Amino acid sequence: MAESVSGPRRAMIIGGSSGMGLALARRLIGAGDHVIIVGRNAERLARARDDLGAPKRLETFAADVTVTSEVEALFAGRSLLDHIVCTAADVTGAYELLPALDLDAARHAIDSKIVAPILIAKHGAPRLAAHGSLAFVSGIAAYRPMPRGTVVATINAALEGLVRALAIELAPIRVNAVSPGWVDTPIWAAVAGDRKADLLASMAARLPVGRVGRPEDIADALAFVIGNGFTTGTVLHVDGGHRLV
Ligand SMILES: NC(=O)c1ccc[n+]([C@@H]2O[C@H](COP(=O)([O-])OP(=O)(O)OC[C@H]3O[C@@H](n4cnc5c(N)ncnc54)[C@H](OP(=O)(O)O)[C@@H]3O)[C@@H](O)[C@H]2O)c1
Repeated sequence: MAESVSGPRRAMIIGGSSGMGLALARRLIGAGDHVIIVGRNAERLARARDDLGAPKRLETFAADVTVTSEVEALFAGRSLLDHIVCTAADVTGAYELLPALDLDAARHAIDSKIVAPILIAKHGAPRLAAHGSLAFVSGIAAYRPMPRGTVVATINAALEGLVRALAIELAPIRVNAVSPGWVDTPIWAAVAGDRKADLLASMAARLPVGRVGRPEDIADALAFVIGNGFTTGTVLHVDGGHRLV
């Protein structure tokens, strides 16, 4: 539980309709917290709501957090939050070698993991309690770049720099990142298509822990960084040892 807070917390999870964000929503709802999940697609949000058992303490809100007016609407008039977590990313078309790289796809990915966190910090921080926190998700690509991964390596590394700067500018609000290794979530359909199962299996064989990540592994780490009142400006690596191999 967050320092100096007792009872249920109010947490917004942007990206909470899928993957790691959905796993975190399940975990926080299970702990009795009030959770708002945010994504662009209203049907996907509705499916997530059903998946989570549609409890009263769950809200959904459809917004594209790369768009200023939608981020303003997301936070307008909202009562105080304890935590804002953003797991959102759209890297469709961004995994390419430079000769094939479509700069619009690259800009779209940068918008989703760099511009969006800046917008969320700008408009969300005034809605956070002083004991509250922001958390973002970077990723192993910043540390183990692969061919075709230039854009994603860049945005994950930049996001970690942003987290350190925000931890100073927004203090005493805490700001942290979790850096996952390869985790089996729907994002892989966009990244690898039909090759998803083979790629994840070969990574599992390489990793010291002998498996790829589960969304719950990352939800666990996000729950730690938002809940630990002495943690700020930190990148918590949860990658099955990927940085070592
Ligand atoms: N999975 C991995 O192996 C892995 C590894 C390293 C790092 N990561 C990072 O981990 C984070 C979470 O990934 P995941 O695997 O959980 O992804 P995911 O299953 O694809 O979930 C992404 C979520 O973000 C939402 N979203 C995307 N763009 C958005 C936007 N512009 N505005 C609002 N919501 C948006 C999506 O909903 P809508 O599409 O409906 O908007 C969805 O709820 C990402 O930052 C990813 O880069 C993932």
